[in-house]
Amino acid sequence: MTTEQTFIAIKPDGVQRGLIAPIISRFENRGYKLVAIKLVTPGKEHLETHYADLKEKPFFKGLVEYMNSGPICAMVWEGRDAVKTGRTLLGATNPLASAPGTIRGDYSIDVGRNICHGSDSVENAKKEIALWFKDGEVVSWKSASFDWVY
Ligand code: PPS
Repeated sequence: MTTEQTFIAIKPDGVQRGLIAPIISRFENRGYKLVAIKLVTPGKEHLETHYADLKEKPFFKGLVEYMNSGPICAMVWEGRDAVKTGRTLLGATNPLASAPGTIRGDYSIDVGRNICHGSDSVENAKKEIALWFKDGEVVSWKSASFDWVY
């Protein structure tokens, strides 16, 4: 199987609202494997680097402040088509456009408090994983359940 990894972050509102466990369950229940996880407060500079492509957007400053307002649960999930399916599990960026059954569609209303982030391409996933995790923090392990998922 071609293994794909995606970067998923539970944003400060998701952490404060006690949504870490339900969000992890969505990925585990679907059959994805958790290969890295940590609670971090990365700071303004790191967040500006993460969102560098958006620095001309009017919401950039507010987005960085929001992301800098509390701990973030940073994760790497692995499995077939993890980037695209991860985004499907999250739902549309604007929660009002997110279908019920998706994470944002079930738990959020406002685009400025949309609970979670997921990489939007395999290339960006690689960049984001390298930005948020040091060598050795992403663990390679064999999940027994993979034999039943695939
Ligand atoms: S855009 O405008 O198309 O580039 O935006 P998009 O790709 O949909 O989203 C990129 C990230 O910006 C966040 N975003 C916002 N934050 C605050 N306010 C507003 N209005 C807003 N619009 C978009 C959005 O949640 C994306 O962040 P992540 O971390 O990927 O969810």
